[in-house]
Amino acid sequence: MSKKRALITGVTGFVGPHLADLLLSQGDVDVMGTYRDSQNLQTLGPLRDRIELYPMDLTDQATVQETLTQARPDYLFHLAAQSNVAQSWKKSAQTFDVNVLGTIHLFEAIRTLALDPVIQIACSSEQYGLVAQEDLPVTEETAFHPLSPYAVSRVTVDLLSYQYFKSYGLQAIRTRAFNHTGPGQGDQFVCSRFAKKIAEIEKGIAPAVLTVGNLEAVRDFTDVRDVVRAYAMSVVKGKPGETYVIASGVGRSIREVLERLLRMSRVPILVEIDPALLRPSDVPALYGASDKFKEATDWKPEIPFEQTLSDLLDYWRARV
Ligand code: GDD
Repeated sequence: MSKKRALITGVTGFVGPHLADLLLSQGDVDVMGTYRDSQNLQTLGPLRDRIELYPMDLTDQATVQETLTQARPDYLFHLAAQSNVAQSWKKSAQTFDVNVLGTIHLFEAIRTLALDPVIQIACSSEQYGLVAQEDLPVTEETAFHPLSPYAVSRVTVDLLSYQYFKSYGLQAIRTRAFNHTGPGQGDQFVCSRFAKKIAEIEKGIAPAVLTVGNLEAVRDFTDVRDVVRAYAMSVVKGKPGETYVIASGVGRSIREVLERLLRMSRVPILVEIDPALLRPSDVPALYGASDKFKEATDWKPEIPFEQTLSDLLDYWRARV
């Protein structure tokens, strides 16, 4: 029997290499990936030679159509996105172009080429936005009250996935992942930014002051390596048309994240609030319940948060 073909959009991002690595280690699929900028191919390391790579710009329908014509995937993991919440206020139009228009281009290519892949759509906990304390933990049924342009773009993608499933039978499975972190994450995101700064301070290449934004926000963190296991399971055991929350179930304040990382630091560090790191509106508290996904797949997060942070710090220690 010939191997199934899995295509990962945005394979050179933070999550893409972890997912490609996992799929290749399982050995039963050929892995393909799209990238926008060839400079980012170095994030793949030795995986690069084992993945069929396609240059693709989601905002350009022609390259999307061309990629899908050639790749003809059985599984499609749609990870490519403008995923930086803070940036989405400064680059709202670009956020919508990549996330919303890009997803329409992808769906239209699949539809017009009459392909029938099982599609995992990387939706986000950020879509829930302002959730009342009594509505936590968030489930698939919790209403959306998005607080950022990024969140609105993700809500739109979520609804488009539902609509294409209903209109055309597109086999879209929506995974609403909560925050995930770990080795390879860009330094625009809170855990990675703090870890990188600590590594720089330890090395003596930055002053011993860590600037921070809102420390009162509460988020639900899962290791990226657990999240990609969930994504891989979703296309096999999940049901097209359905939505699944992917979360650890534990809410942690950003202050707790900071304190944990500071305890791992080899040098003393001063902490200062930088008003430039505060957002026009910030989601106060989000944590989720993955019961529906656990029921469908038996997935559960396995890597303890302390391990994730320690691996992340070591990742930066090896790079700064
Ligand atoms: N980035 C950042 N940098 N955030 C900070 C900082 C800082 O120095 N200090 C405090 N924060 C606070 C933010 O205000 C926010 O409340 C929280 O830390 C988390 O910020 P991010 O790490 O940027 O993540 P996010 O929750 O906004 O969004 C991430 O998770 C979503 C859910 O999975 C992103 O990865 C999204 O793409 C993703 O959809």
